[in-house]
Amino acid sequence: MRPLLMGAALAAAAALTPITAAAQGQVNVICSALAEWCNGFATGFTKATGIKVNVAMKGSGEALAQLVAEKANPKTDMWFGGTGDPHLQAAEMGLTLEYKSAQLPGLRDWARKQAEQSGYRTVGIYLGPLGFGYNTELLKKKNMPVPRTWGDLLNPVYKGEIQVANPASSGTAYTMIATLVQIMGEEPAFDYLKKLHANVGQYTRSGTAPIKAAARGETGVSISFIHDGAGERAQGFPIETVTPSDGTGAEIGSMSIVKGARNAAAAKRLYDWALTPDAQVIAAQTRSFQIPSNPKTPLDPNMPDVAKIKLIDYDYAKYGSSDERKRLISRWEKEVGNLPR
Ligand code: G6P
Repeated sequence: MRPLLMGAALAAAAALTPITAAAQGQVNVICSALAEWCNGFATGFTKATGIKVNVAMKGSGEALAQLVAEKANPKTDMWFGGTGDPHLQAAEMGLTLEYKSAQLPGLRDWARKQAEQSGYRTVGIYLGPLGFGYNTELLKKKNMPVPRTWGDLLNPVYKGEIQVANPASSGTAYTMIATLVQIMGEEPAFDYLKKLHANVGQYTRSGTAPIKAAARGETGVSISFIHDGAGERAQGFPIETVTPSDGTGAEIGSMSIVKGARNAAAAKRLYDWALTPDAQVIAAQTRSFQIPSNPKTPLDPNMPDVAKIKLIDYDYAKYGSSDERKRLISRWEKEVGNLPR
C-alpha cells in the first residue's frame, strides 16, 4: 500500500474502532440546557468518541454576552442549547461558524428553517412551547384559580405569587416578551408587562428557576417552558402546566459552533453527533422533555403534544434579529424591570 492510501485506511479504521478516552482532543462547550442534560450529553459524546467535553452552564442571554466578550479570542468552541433567538443574533453578529451538517436534511422542518434563516450558522435541536407552571397544592391552599390565559395572570389574587426570569439573562423570558408582542401588538404588550410586574414576586436570572421555585412551593405560578414542568413532575413535585388558550410561542432550542474555535474539528463532530437519535435520546433520559429535532429520536409521553397547543406563527427571523432583541430587552429594562412594586 502506498503511504497515502495506508494513511487513509488507518484513518477509516480509526473512525470505526471504539476509541479510548485519552488524548483524543477536547471541546469547550457553553451549555444553556438543564445541567443534567448538559452533563449527560458531554459524557455520551466522550463515550462515543474519546473526545473530552468541558462544559460551562449559562443562560441563553448570558451565553451570547460571553461570545461577544470572547470575540477577538474565543475560548468557547460550541454553544449547545438555549432559546434560538440569541443563536440567530449570534449568527447575524458574525460570532458563529457556517456549517452544514450531513444530518441536516433528515431534521424536522423547524430545525432546518432555523439553519436556513441563519445562513447555516445555527440549527434547531429541540422545540419547546411556553406556558405556565403552577403548584397544585399551593394553589388549592391559597384558594387561587389555575391561570388559563395571559390575562388571567393579572388577577390581583396572584400578587407576589408569579415568578418569571429576567429577559436580559434568560431566553425563556425573552420568548415571553416576543410572544406577547406578537399576540397583542407592542404597546398593549408593554402595558400588559407593566401590570404583570405588580404580581411578580421575583425576576430570576435563569429561565428555569421560576418553575423550580413553583415545584418546591416557593411561588404559586411560573412563566416557563412547559417541558420544564414535566421534568420537575417526573421528580415527584406537585407541579402542573398549562398553555394559554389565547395563544403562545415556542422556542427552537439551537446549537452553534463559534467562529474562530480552537477545537473546530472536534466541535463539528459534536455538532453532527448532537443531531443523531443516539445523542438526542439523552435529553429525555435526563428529564429534558423538549421535542427533538431528529424525527427518528423516540418520543416520550412527557413531551408536549403540540396538536393541543394554540401556537402562534412566531417570527424567529424578526425576534432573533440583533436590533429587535436588543431594543425589546432595553425597553423592558427601562419601562418594566425598574418599576417599583
Ligand atoms: C431550560 C429549558 C430549555 C431552554 C433553557 C433556556 O434549560 O429546558 O428548553 O432552552 O432553559 O434557559 P434560559 O435561562 O436562557 O431561559
